[in-house]
Formats: sequence, C-alpha cells, structure tokens
Amino acid sequence: MISLIFYFSGTGNSLYVAKKISEIQGERLISVAGEMERKDTVFEYEFSEKELLGFVFPVYAWGPPRIVIDFISKLRVSGGKPYVFSVCTCGDDEGYATRMLQKAFAKAGLSLDSAFTVIMPNTYIIGFDVDSKDVASEKLRRAEEKLQTINTVISDRERGVFDLIPGRLSGLKSAIVNPLFNRFGRSTKRFYATGECTGCGTCATVCPLHTITIKGKPVWGKSCTQCLACIHRCPVRAIQYGKATVRKGRYVHPDII
Ligand SMILES: Cc1cc2nc3c(=O)[nH]c(=O)nc-3n(C[C@H](O)[C@H](O)[C@H](O)COP(=O)(O)O)c2cc1C
Ligand code: SF4
Ligand code: SF4
Repeated sequence: MISLIFYFSGTGNSLYVAKKISEIQGERLISVAGEMERKDTVFEYEFSEKELLGFVFPVYAWGPPRIVIDFISKLRVSGGKPYVFSVCTCGDDEGYATRMLQKAFAKAGLSLDSAFTVIMPNTYIIGFDVDSKDVASEKLRRAEEKLQTINTVISDRERGVFDLIPGRLSGLKSAIVNPLFNRFGRSTKRFYATGECTGCGTCATVCPLHTITIKGKPVWGKSCTQCLACIHRCPVRAIQYGKATVRKGRYVHPDII
C-alpha cells in the first residue's frame, strides 16, 4: 500500500495542512521540491485501487506554484485508480488555482475526486502586509475546523466534494494575473540582504529551490518560485525585496520551525 501526499510550502502553512492530513490518513509526505531536485524526466508511482494521492500547495497569484504544475507534467501513475484530492492554502481566495491543477492532472491522465481551499495567514508581503495577530489566529482556528471536515471526506473516499473559495473575478485573476506573475513576478533581482545579515545561512537552507548561496551574505541565483521563505525565515529580518517589504511584518506557521 502506498498512499502519498505531495506538498509544496514556503512558510509552513501548506506543510502544516499536509502533516495534519497525513497523521490521520497515514499517508507518506513527499516534498515536490525534493523530488524535482532529482531532475528525472518522469516520476512514476504505483497505486492500488482507492489508495490516496494528495496534493497540498499554496496559491501564488491565483494559481498553483509553477513547480507543482511542472512536477505533475512528469507524474506517471500505474496500477489501480487512486483517490485523488487536493488542498490549496491561501490568504483570501484561490481564483481558479484548483481548475488549473485539474487541467494539469488531465494531461497526466488523472482527475480530482475532491478538492478544498483552506484560508491561512497571508504571506505575500511584496503586495500586502501580513495579517494582524488576531486575524492570523482566527484563520488558524478556522483552518483546524476545516481540516476535520477534509479528513472525514478523505477517510470516506467521498467523490465530488469541491469545497473551494474562488473569490471575485476568479477567471480574470487566474487567466490574466497568474501568467503575468509567472513571467515577470518571479525575478530574484530585487532581493538583497542588509547590513544586519550575520551570514548564518538559514535563507540558503530554507530555499526550496536551493537558489541561494552564501558568500558572506546571500547571493540569489535565477530560479525562484517567490515562496518568500527566505524573507520570512531570516532570523534577523535582513532580507528585503526592493522597498516593498521594508515596513512589512514576517510570518512562519507557528508549528513549523
Ligand atoms: C507569491 C505569493 C502569491 C500569493 N498569492 C495569493 C493569492 O493569489 N491569493 C491568496 O489568497 N493568497 C495568496 N498568497 C498567500 C499564500 O497563498 C498563503 O499565505 C499560503 O498559505 C502560504 O503557504 P505556505 O506557507 O505553505 O507557503 C500568496 C503568497 C505568495 C508568497
Ligand atoms: S538568513 Fe538572514 S542573517 Fe542568515 S544568511 Fe540569510 S540574510 Fe543573512
Ligand atoms: S529565493 Fe527566496 S523566494 Fe525564491 S524560491 Fe528561494 S526562498 Fe523562495
């Protein structure tokens, strides 16, 4: 029996969700970024009938992170038909992120049986700020309730539950803003470390794409998902993105170190 949850997470929200599901369902957690490091041309997994295949990921500009779509394009599933589900986490609304995932699945010969959106504290400090403490705790409390429902649906292998939060103008956001974000919004050019940097190397360790090297201070390579783990996880707040993040808060899921 293999039941697998593939996850991607920058600041811990999606990792927390993936862990809470895997604890109940007994699924093995697999990092999409970790798998993609192998540079294999295909990733093959064999399932038995009704075993679980789950994807948990954050929403970036109303779509799934590009690395998740790239991974699915290399995914090959053999054996019986697994029960396929997805959970996306977002600060407010997902747009059509799940539809975009569904399209990628269709190309891999798979389809979602059920899918969910879970609202979590916001991490996009380039455009907005982090949530206030009260808003963040309320989101985390509600997420706990939603996770219980999600686990029940998955345990029962219920089909056709699409408990999603697309928000307003979802089609427009996903069809227009998302491609622009992927084309122009993922540059590393505006990242820099201030004089407070101690050279501790945390940013390089937490970068899921291993794009950061430490030469006294961090130096960014080209590939980037904009997960913002480097900015949020720097212990001395030394990383900025142009001027956009200077006066903004920082956030990491409280249960994820
Ligand atoms: C680059 C970027 C883009 C984001 N875009 C959206 C968005 O379109 N809609 C939304 O509700 N939240 C958005 N967010 C917030 C995250 O989806 C949310 O905080 C998520 O739970 C972070 O998950 P993680 O901690 O697993 O990385 C964005 C965050 C980042 C870093
Ligand atoms: S995490 Fe912060 S302090 Fe540590 S090397 Fe990176 S920028 Fe410097
Ligand atoms: S450079 Fe920073 S934002 Fe880009 S992938 Fe690495 S940790 Fe995420």
